[in-house]
Amino acid sequence: MYKTLIRPILFKFDPEEVHYFTFSMLKNFPFLTKLFLPKPIEDKRLEREVFGLKFKNPVGLAAGFDKNAVLFEELSDLGFGFVEIGTLTPKGQPGNDKKRLFRLKEDSAIINRMGFNNEGVDAAVERLKKNKSVLIGGNIGKNKVTPNEEAVNDYKICFEALFPYVDYFVVNVSSPNTPNLRELQDKEPLTQLLGTLQQMNTEKSNPKPILLKIAPDLSDDQLLDIIDIVKDTKIAGVIATNTTLSRENLTSENKSETGGLSGKPLTKRSTEVIRFLSEKSGKAFPIIGVGGIHTAKDAIEKLDAGASLIQLYTGFIYEGPELINEINKELLVRASRLPR
Ligand SMILES: Cc1cc2nc3c(=O)[nH]c(=O)nc-3n(C[C@H](O)[C@H](O)[C@H](O)COP(=O)(O)O)c2cc1C
Repeated sequence: MYKTLIRPILFKFDPEEVHYFTFSMLKNFPFLTKLFLPKPIEDKRLEREVFGLKFKNPVGLAAGFDKNAVLFEELSDLGFGFVEIGTLTPKGQPGNDKKRLFRLKEDSAIINRMGFNNEGVDAAVERLKKNKSVLIGGNIGKNKVTPNEEAVNDYKICFEALFPYVDYFVVNVSSPNTPNLRELQDKEPLTQLLGTLQQMNTEKSNPKPILLKIAPDLSDDQLLDIIDIVKDTKIAGVIATNTTLSRENLTSENKSETGGLSGKPLTKRSTEVIRFLSEKSGKAFPIIGVGGIHTAKDAIEKLDAGASLIQLYTGFIYEGPELINEINKELLVRASRLPR
């Protein structure tokens, strides 16, 4: 239904406008979702326990779609096992100038240079106060105007504000669209940033899992550094991966736009990163796998490579909400093949 009827219409319009239109449809006309989309699969065998949290299924929505925590309930109703909000920054900011979101249809991909457009952490907190049951990840970053030397403070502000309202945290230092942000992935600043947040976390009576979201463009040596840092700072795990700066093998007209590339061209690399981290660390920490999942097979490959959970973004746009059920159905088929 989505791919044959809805997507051809949506894809005729500007991607960012379509994003806001879809948002308002899901928010204001939830009965349409119920009418046109299959019922989400619920099954005990899909449940996962990862970093001490119980997920109703392992398929989550990646950061960047519901930046301001406006739609997490409706998205959970579509079948997502968890929803990651953000990236949020201490103060609201408009992000980069439009146009900043591009479809690469022939490549089943997207290039975005949104630049952390968001209403600020306090606006999201107000909405999250109404959350009853959705498992929420809080993805946090720094404001564009904050120099890297003061970045830790921005992350601390977001961490404190969100602490009572999210189930896990994601420290985002891997977006290519905030100038110099990725420099925070270097060993020294990253150890300091994660160490500070983890210290604040352990001083709480109910510490929450902190995850690090990394770029797919890191070298093997940098990935080995990441493993050391995760172990040294004792954070809960890693999200692999964010969008890529690579532009290999693209054919679409928009291939030269500046920004982060997501979707099918990222599938293989993000799975490689997951496998590398899992093998080289000796499965020392859980990994959430994200990047170019457009089919159930893509999802299974990430889980087989070492991911405990997965997330969708571009695949959700191209394949529609049915992709969530498709993946969960395949997981059930696999579960029924396992010896009991
Ligand atoms: C339009 C757009 C906006 C995004 N914004 C964020 C963001 O704010 N924070 C973040 O950590 N990742 C962000 N991402 C990255 C996704 O969460 C995901 O890591 C990446 O797109 C790879 O997954 P995919 O191929 O399934 O899209 C964004 C991606 C897209 C396409």
